[in-house]
Formats: sequence, C-alpha cells, structure tokens
Amino acid sequence: MSLSELSSWNKIRNYALSNKSKKLLDYFSNDKDRFNNFSIECDDLIFDYSKNFIDNELMQLFLNLADEIALKEKIEDMFSGMKINTTENRAVLHTALRDFATKEIILDGENIIPKIEKVRLQMKDFVSRVHSGKFLGYSSKKITNIVNIGIGGSDLGPAMVCKALAAYKIKDINIYFVSNIDPTDITDVLAKLSPENTLFIIASKTFTTQETIRNAETAKEWFLKNSGNNHSNIAKHFIALSTNKDAVTNFGISEENMFEFWDWVGGRYSLWSAIGISIALYVGYDNFEKLLLGANEIDNHFRKMPFEKNIPFIMAMLSTYYNNFMNAASYAVIPYDHYLIRFPAFLQQLDMESNGKSITKSNDKVDYNTGAIIWGEPGTNAQHSFFQLIHQGTQMIPLDFIAGVNSLNPIENHHEMLLSNYFAQTEALMNGKNEQIVQDELIKTNKTQEEIQMLLPHKVFPGSKPSNSILYKKLTPKVLGKLIVLYEHKVFVQGVIWNVNSFDQWGVELGKQLAIRILPELMNNEEINSHDDSTNGLINYYKKWKNKS
Ligand code: F6P
Repeated sequence: MSLSELSSWNKIRNYALSNKSKKLLDYFSNDKDRFNNFSIECDDLIFDYSKNFIDNELMQLFLNLADEIALKEKIEDMFSGMKINTTENRAVLHTALRDFATKEIILDGENIIPKIEKVRLQMKDFVSRVHSGKFLGYSSKKITNIVNIGIGGSDLGPAMVCKALAAYKIKDINIYFVSNIDPTDITDVLAKLSPENTLFIIASKTFTTQETIRNAETAKEWFLKNSGNNHSNIAKHFIALSTNKDAVTNFGISEENMFEFWDWVGGRYSLWSAIGISIALYVGYDNFEKLLLGANEIDNHFRKMPFEKNIPFIMAMLSTYYNNFMNAASYAVIPYDHYLIRFPAFLQQLDMESNGKSITKSNDKVDYNTGAIIWGEPGTNAQHSFFQLIHQGTQMIPLDFIAGVNSLNPIENHHEMLLSNYFAQTEALMNGKNEQIVQDELIKTNKTQEEIQMLLPHKVFPGSKPSNSILYKKLTPKVLGKLIVLYEHKVFVQGVIWNVNSFDQWGVELGKQLAIRILPELMNNEEINSHDDSTNGLINYYKKWKNKS
C-alpha cells in the first residue's frame, strides 16, 4: 500500500489541517511541563524538541505510523544485514563498523566481524607506526603532512570530523583534504608540502571516481618529480582506502598499503570504516575509537529506545511532518560550535543523496514530497547572513540548533555571548514579536505617528518557527560520534516512511556520463554541434576563449 493510502498518514494530514492556526506558544500555555515532556537526555547530550508543533496526540499518530510501516522490523533488517539496498543488492552494515560487542553478523554465509576487526587492527598498527616514526618517508623523515584525496563520502565525513576534532590533534601532524577536480584545489595543497614528509591517502570506495583518480595521478606525478623519480618510494608515501583491490594495485599501490572496506558500507556512511584513517592519523587511533563508541551508543539508543523516547525517530517524524504537511521544502542546521563548520556540508550529502528520490522501493512514482533541502552555517555568522529570511520571509524553515555547554577555547565571555545567541534565536523564532509590542517600543522613541505607522509592519516578527535544540557538555570524539549518528538514523527513518531506497545514488550518474562524453570534445579546436543549442554555444565559447585571456 502506498504511503498516501495509510490510515495513520492520513490521520497525520488531518491533524495538520485541523491544527493549522495553532501557534507554537499555544502548545506551551497548555502544558506547564513542556520542556520535560518534550526533551530527551542521552548521557552527555540533551535533545529539546518542545519548540515544535507537537503534542501527545500527534506523537501518538507518529507512533501509529511507525507501526503501520513496520519501522521496528525495518531497523532490525538493517542491523542484521538484510540486503535493504535493493537496487544494488547490498546489505547496509555501517553500524557493524562501530559495534564492539557483537561477535557475529553473517552476510552471504560469512561472519563480517573478524574482517572488520582485522582492518581496525591494521589501521591501529599503521597509525601507531606513523606517529612513532617507525613508518618513515623515503629520506627517513617522519611523516607530518597527511593529504586525503577523495570526494563525496570519501572526503566529507573525514574532513568534517578532522575539522570538528582539531582540538584533539596530534602535535606535528597536519591534515589536508583534496576533493575537487578543479586544479586550484590540489595546487593550493601541494604548494604547502614537501614530498619527504607527506603521506597521500587515496580514498575511494570504487577507485574509479574520475576526480579522485585524476587528483591521485597528479599527486603521484608531483611526488615522483620532486623526490628523484624513484617509483619504489611510492610505497612509503601512498596508501589506498578502497573496496577495489585490482584498481588499487593497477594504480601502483601495493596490497599491503591498502586498507579494505566492503560494498555494504555506503560512501556517505563510510567515515567509520578504513575511510576514517585520516581521522585516526590526525587525532590518534584512540580518539577514532571513541568516535566509534559514541556512534555505537546512538545505534543502541535507536534500536532499543521506545519510539516516543527515540531521538532519531522524533527528529525524522518532525522533519517529515513539516516537509509533507507544512510545506517546508528546506531544513536548516545551525551549529553554534565553530568546530562543526563542515557539519552542514556533511549532512547535505548524508540526507540529500540518501532521500532525494522519487521512485519507491516498490517502483512506483511517489505522490508526496521526499528529501528536504539541507543547508546551514555556523552561528552566529548565520544570523548576520540569512536569518532575516527565516524570521520574516515567506518560507517555513524548521531548524536544528546545535551547541556545546563548554568551549574548548574559552576566552573571557566569548562562549557566553555565543550561547546567549543560541538560546535567543530559538526563543525569538518561536515567540516572534507582535504589533502591540512593536508599537509600544516605537512610541518610546519619540517618533511621529506617521513614522510609527510606516515602520511598524517591518518590525513585526510572526514567530511560530519551529526548531530543535541539541546541547552537549563538550565537543569530544564520543559526542561527535553520537551527533553524526542521530542524523544517520533520522535519514534512515525518513527513507522508510517515504519508502525510498536511502542507500543508492543513481541520480549522480547522468552528469558523470555526459562529462565523460564532453571531455574529449574540449581537447580539440573543432566547433561542436552534437548537443542542444545552449550546450553547443557554451562549449564553442569555451573554445573561442581558451588561452586567449
Ligand atoms: O558521485 C557520488 C558518489 O558515488 C558518492 O556516493 C560517493 O561518496 C562519492 O561519489 C565518491 O565515491 P568513491 O568513494 O567511490 O570515490
């Protein structure tokens, strides 16, 4: 049965219609204990969802929907290794990568746990050899510069985590990420490096991604050119993280310098696998393991907590409710923690590559909205940029506000100033400011009646803008692991509700194919007429202007 035909779904729709005129503040006046009733503490993190259009009645409808779509069973299907990625006939077992308790998960007749443990040990050993100086560069110098070359999930996860955990970095280790095929990206990075103390990590699940392989070749050429052109030195400066042994060895990296992962780890869920070696090199293997342990805590929470106390479930339900019944096409995530500057970018791939789909798992076209547009920037910068539109624009944009109670870099009252904004924004968004208050304020400024009437509507805030607040004690590797997985499972639940396959990404293929076709056309001077008129025109302008600036 299609989602639109489910009785619980239609009851949620009816609830939304009949509560259309209700303001967020109404929910507070009807419930004196609203914060306690609509927040969940999870060890060193609290999730407050009280500033949302939710009451017990709607929560019950959410729970009914969970029953009707067999969510509990679907969660178990994922954790136990069912091939839920149906279009690629793959299991989805990134959760196993951070599970230190389970000793057996059988996939295609084989226990995958020993394989995971083996690669973890290989990573631990390698990281310790680099840090201790047992693994040295070709001229016996210690490795101090790490360059991760990858794109998408082979870049965004580790890059986001390394930035987030910079306070825990190993002294003398620097990390760089090259992802873009734009030559400026690798040029900028190589300009800062010497081949003697640099380790290149070629991170690619498939090892066929055009951008990564080309960047890796450029890095190899640069390395050989600047290190005496001795190919045997490559083994001391290049490692690979991949599922594709043949392609890795063809590239010139030996098997012993390869860290394996498997097709049941999706790219955007791969930072927990060998793809995380850049993290371990940067902040130490122990901190990498703490990240995994934090992640595992939320896996257990997600699996075991009843849905009314289950944070990812509630995040997913609220976001879906706004998307499908309150016209919220986008969703903003605002970290009030500068270390999380790359978190929104990471979430964009996680969420939009997972749920930006319009064909259901039963091969029908959906007749409802799916994946929201995810965006965000750190606070308070975001406030001085796009918050105008969130407060007073015409779009409904739900938000997540994320902050740590304790700063890792305290300076006098900086952190209090940051947090006062974090608290103020969710309050302002919810309360708004009505005409009466604005008028009273303007009267006190000695303005004329005419001036007051002119200004008044511009200074009114409608309010009733919903938000979640996530507050943690301090940004540690464990807390970061928890935070990431809250969103991973949010995305999973939404995929189940919309009945889409959250683990494939066919939508990225068409552009790749066309780029492969266009590339040779750019390498000669002949006029092109094989495309539509616009594309022909642009390519021909490229040819006309090339090298003539
Ligand atoms: O183009 C999208 C994508 O396939 C992502 O899903 C993936 O994370 C990224 O490319 C990189 O892929 P790979 O790790 O195979 O190089």
